[in-house]
Order: sequence, then structure tokens, then C-alpha cells
Amino acid sequence: MVTVRPYKFDQDALVVFLTMEQVKARELPVKDARLSAEFQKLLEAGVFEAAPGTQFPALLGRKIVLFVGLGKAKDLSLSGLRLAVRRALLSAPLSRTETVELILPEDNRENVEAAIEGALIGTYAWKKYVTRKKDDRTVEHKKIFIAGKDQPGYAATAKVAANVNFARALVNENADVTDAVYLEKVMKDIASGHKNVKLEILGRKELAAKGFGLLLAVNQGSNKKPRVLIASYTGAPGEAFTAVIGKGLTYDTGGLNLKPTGHMETMRCDMSGAATVLSLLKTVLELGIRKNIIFACGVAENAISANAYKPGDVLTSFSGKTVEVGNTDAEGRLVLADVISYVIQQYKPARLIDLATLTGAVSVALGNDYSGLVSNDDALAGALLKSAALSDDRIWRLPSYPELREAIKSKIADLRNTSSWRGAGGTITGAEFLRQFVGDTPWAHLDIAGTAFVEGDGRMYFGHGATGAGVRLLTHYFINN
Ligand code: BES
Ligand code: MN
Ligand code: ZN
Repeated sequence: MVTVRPYKFDQDALVVFLTMEQVKARELPVKDARLSAEFQKLLEAGVFEAAPGTQFPALLGRKIVLFVGLGKAKDLSLSGLRLAVRRALLSAPLSRTETVELILPEDNRENVEAAIEGALIGTYAWKKYVTRKKDDRTVEHKKIFIAGKDQPGYAATAKVAANVNFARALVNENADVTDAVYLEKVMKDIASGHKNVKLEILGRKELAAKGFGLLLAVNQGSNKKPRVLIASYTGAPGEAFTAVIGKGLTYDTGGLNLKPTGHMETMRCDMSGAATVLSLLKTVLELGIRKNIIFACGVAENAISANAYKPGDVLTSFSGKTVEVGNTDAEGRLVLADVISYVIQQYKPARLIDLATLTGAVSVALGNDYSGLVSNDDALAGALLKSAALSDDRIWRLPSYPELREAIKSKIADLRNTSSWRGAGGTITGAEFLRQFVGDTPWAHLDIAGTAFVEGDGRMYFGHGATGAGVRLLTHYFINN
């Protein structure tokens, strides 16, 4: 829990974030004789210059005071502040304290919002199955007070951050728990009581009757039920709709083109797009965002069995286009293609954004801090790039151009789900497959395969596991466009 309220010096611990300039000027952001005296001692000892990444703990009576260095003001980014907040709250001196007060170098909106995110997003960790809870420093176990003037909007920032964590928990949970039926219930629970949300849930029977040949083929080897989950939200009656569509592969073994050891272990993350879409639905309802939005998830499991679809199969999509299966591990584009065609046909959105852990190639191209953006519309792409920069939910645009169509030709079908470029351009050729199903609809594809899930200790201010990629970005986009 994070609260913004005036400085009080009343919690178990106090964290003082300082720039090098503030240390040089011997200036604290708050006026407090007790704290100043302690700060003075620190300066006299010459042990703290506020170099970036440094922390210096002190005891003031029974209160823990942690001085945190932010480096030079001109080099400090909001992302750096988020990370400093994460590190401070997870630091050893604060491991036992339940209540913490934070003093930022300056009380302004940008800093406070970054600190709220640093606290909530930065300390999130998936601990459900850790039975030894003693040393749990996650956000659920701390009350955090940011010293400053409370302002309208901070509560929303905290809600969005909590919903980033909501998406993360959906991803981090075992794949056999968060299956299609579970995600259906999540959507129903979120929408329940909202008269301006209409649900359309398609199960195996409906999907077969309507001809979702690609999605059903992907799910064919699984004993899980497939689902297409659609929530249409009218927050601005009469205006055009934007559709957001999430890839919801609750597990991706690769299918008969089975993933090798080392590539399958994190594949619970393959429903991250769907988790983000569900989190966005929750966020849009909680914030009462006045937009018309279609939230859709294509949910399936890519498993192996005697029933599994096969490399070389030719499938017929909802759109009528036929697809040769070059590789059963390129399943996300199959699922998405059917959902994209259906949403366009049934809901006629003015623009469409899809989120998908689509290609491993996106991390080869961009690393793990930027999601890939591929779009057929400069205005939509531009708006998303702007929201990404302002929300720190980062994206980078990759090209889309007509000649790419060549790469996904098939001799025996209209299209193939793999490209003839072999290793090259995996992200843009994957996106090109999707583009064949969007027609003239302005479209943006967010490949979050590199950003949605952190292996190892963490990156930026995210710990291990799911990151909720896309939640802050699209919340910002919906609020501002
Ligand atoms: N779900 C994977 C992509 C992925 C890789 C997500 C790593 C997260 C981390 C996707 O379904 C996949 O397997 N893509 C293949 C496509 C290839 C067979 C054309 C890939 O990236 O190798
Ligand atoms: Mn795959
Ligand atoms: Zn996949």
C-alpha cells in the first residue's frame, strides 16, 4: 500500500533519496532538526556523496534511516528513481520494517508517480508457492508513505501499478491453473456489475461452428478447452471502438515441433498478451476511462499428443484464407489471425492493437527492455510511441512493408505460418502474417516476447517473472487518445 501525505517522521523507517548536488549543498528536501543532525554527522564522516546506487543506513533512536544516493541530478531519470525506490525497499536494513516513509529529492508529480511505481511494481514478487514467508519484503507486506502533497491522479497511478501486478500474477501462476476456463472466469469477474460491458464467450462448439480453424488446430493436441473471450465496453456512446487483442497461449510446448529444454520452462508466459488485456479491462473500468474498447483474448494451449496438429498441415482460417503449417511452434500467429478476423468482422473497430509473446527473435533485435512495435499506421504508431515514452513501458518500432509478403508464401496454401527467410527478421515476418488478416484496419502489433517475462534476477525495476508489459502503455494511450 502506498500513500502520499505530508512528511511526518512517524514510521518505522525513513528513506531519504538525495542527489549529489543536494549533498554538496548540505540541503535536505525536508526541514527537520532531528534528521538534519543525522545528515550532518554523515557529511562530517565523509562517507556519503550520493553516488548512484549507494545506500547508507543509520539509526535515529529506534528509527532506521536509509540515505540513498541518486547521483547527479542531470543524470537521474524517472526510471532510475523507480529502481532506487525498489532497491531501497528491498534493502537488508529495511527487511523487517513494515512501515516506511520516503523522502524524494523533490516533491513533484513526476517524482511521486515514479516512486509509487517503484514501490508497487518494483517490490512485486511472486511468492505464492514459497512456504518460508519470514523474510518477505514484497509490496503486500509493507505500508509505504511518500512525503509530499497528495494530488489528484496519484490514486490512479497506484491503481494502474496494482493492475500491472494483477497481470503479472496471472502469468506467474502455474499454466494448469490459469487455463482458458480460469481466464474466462477472470473476465466475467472483472465485468460483473458493469452494464456497459457486454461479454461474448466462444467455446469449442461455437468456435467450430464459426470456423476458427487456426485456433482450434493449435488447441487440438491439448486436453484444455479453447476459448475466445471478448468484452465490449462502451464508455463513450456513439464513438468509434478500439480493439485490443491478446495472445493467450496458456502453455506453449511448441507442439510436435517441440521446444528443447532451456526454451520451454518459461512458456507459462505465453498468455501474457491475454493477461495484459484482462488487466486493461480491469483498469479501464476502475478508472472509468471514457472510450469504447473491445477487449479480446484468444486462449489455447499448444500441447503434444496423438491429436496434435502437424507440421505440413493445411488449415482453413476463419477468414477463409488457407495456411500451411511450416512449424507448429509458430502457433501464436495462428490463434491471433482467427481472433483478429473475427473481431474485425463482428465489431468493426476503427483501430486494432494486438499484444503477443510472438517471437523469440524480438529479443535478438531489441533486447528485453523494449517491446517490438509493427504497424501499418503512422498515426497509431506515433501515439503508441509517445505513450510508451511517458509511461516507461517501452516500445521500439520495426518496419512493415509490402515486399515482406514474399517471405510467407506457400506452394500449397494461401500463406505459411513460417517465413522462407529462416533465421532472419523473425519478428517482422511474424507480424507480416498477422497483417494479412487486418485488411485496411489501422493496426499495431506489440511483440512482448522479450519484455513480458524476466528470467534470472530481474531487469530495470522488475524482479524475476512476469512484468505486465503493455498495461501502463495502453492505459496511458487510452487516457490520452
Ligand atoms: N511463444 C513463442 C515465442 C516466445 C519465445 C515467447 C521466447 C517468449 C519467449 C512463440 O510461439 C514461438 O515459439 N515462436 C517461434 C516462431 C518460429 C517457430 C517461427 C520462435 O520465436 O522461435
Ligand atoms: Mn510457439
Ligand atoms: Zn507461443
